[in-house]
Amino acid sequence: MTDRYAVIGNPIGHSKSPLIHAAFARQTGQDLDYGRILGDRVDFAGDVRRFLAAGGRGLNVTVPFKEAAWALADELSPAAASAGAVNTLTVLEGGRLRGDNTDGVGLVRDLVVNHGFAFRGGRVLLLGAGGAARGVLLPLLATGLASLTLANRTAAKARELASLAGRAMATGGDKIGEGSEIGIQAGEGIPLDAGGLVVLAGRRFDPGVNADATAQDGTILVAGTVPVNGVGLEDLAGQQFDLIINATAAGLDGAVPDLPADCLAPGGWTYDMLYGDRPTPFCIWGQARGAARALDGLGMLVEQAAESFWLWRRVRPSTAPVIQWLRTGAPPGIRP
Ligand SMILES: NC(=O)c1ccc[n+]([C@@H]2O[C@H](COP(=O)([O-])OP(=O)(O)OC[C@H]3O[C@@H](n4cnc5c(N)ncnc54)[C@H](OP(=O)(O)O)[C@@H]3O)[C@@H](O)[C@H]2O)c1
Repeated sequence: MTDRYAVIGNPIGHSKSPLIHAAFARQTGQDLDYGRILGDRVDFAGDVRRFLAAGGRGLNVTVPFKEAAWALADELSPAAASAGAVNTLTVLEGGRLRGDNTDGVGLVRDLVVNHGFAFRGGRVLLLGAGGAARGVLLPLLATGLASLTLANRTAAKARELASLAGRAMATGGDKIGEGSEIGIQAGEGIPLDAGGLVVLAGRRFDPGVNADATAQDGTILVAGTVPVNGVGLEDLAGQQFDLIINATAAGLDGAVPDLPADCLAPGGWTYDMLYGDRPTPFCIWGQARGAARALDGLGMLVEQAAESFWLWRRVRPSTAPVIQWLRTGAPPGIRP
């Protein structure tokens, strides 16, 4: 029988997820049907129950239901737990519902795999403290970056997010940029030092005991602490960053966050989670400040979908042709 999946949100008509997942299914020969559900703003749980009762195997969840999905899940991945938001629900054996957040993996894969960004040693600025910023926090911290600054128009929210990073719990993971899985997988939680994060490969690691040890038995991939700083936009004067990621909603109003003109380091990159048919305001901001690359979030959209697909089907689709198709409308070998 054909397995059923869907994306649920409100509104939902604009979602590209059905096209993306249909392309993945065709490409990988998976027998599945992927629809869209206009969710009831007051009965999200009822919508989910009805979809699952009708044989649904998994859901992508979008605005405004990511927090409700987090509350509904029987178990959570570390990234979803720390984000307080779920964008992927999976029905497990026995009917339990697992919640994941694949946005961070999508962002990191787009930057590292598709564009060759080298996080190691980099100073990264993440703008915004809403759902999108929370969702990418753990996978970003697992990249080997040197420091992460969280800046938000409302500074208190950025400070709160920075302290959340310090309290983050994580186990299990795979090396960013290598192999077929990137990001933090399910496992037991491990308390971390303030501001620190440890990425593991299916093995317990106590940062208090093994901090800075690498590969005692070849399984520790990244270890150590990452300084995380939460500030207001006005506190960025005099600082420079190798990568600036815009996770604010400013672009939806045609605006960019109010940043110091010189906060992008020479050779630095910018990344806007927003995407559109033409360069976004933040892409234009990056280009005007000499960014080596000024990327938008279309690749992240496709990569987070691919991660959901992998979680559901244990098959990793090839994302490049799908990104190219969405970007240009001219797919090599893939029809919409
Ligand atoms: N590419 C993808 O796959 C993907 C995935 C997820 C999200 N996104 C995009 O990410 C963006 C943020 O989404 P979200 O769900 O996090 O939204 P959200 O929860 O509503 O958060 C909005 C954030 O933007 C800030 N903000 C809004 N207007 C601003 C302005 N004019 N100047 C400076 N800061 C401003 C807010 O600051 P205050 O706290 O001060 O209000 C807040 O931090 C959206 O554009 C969304 O489309 C893309």
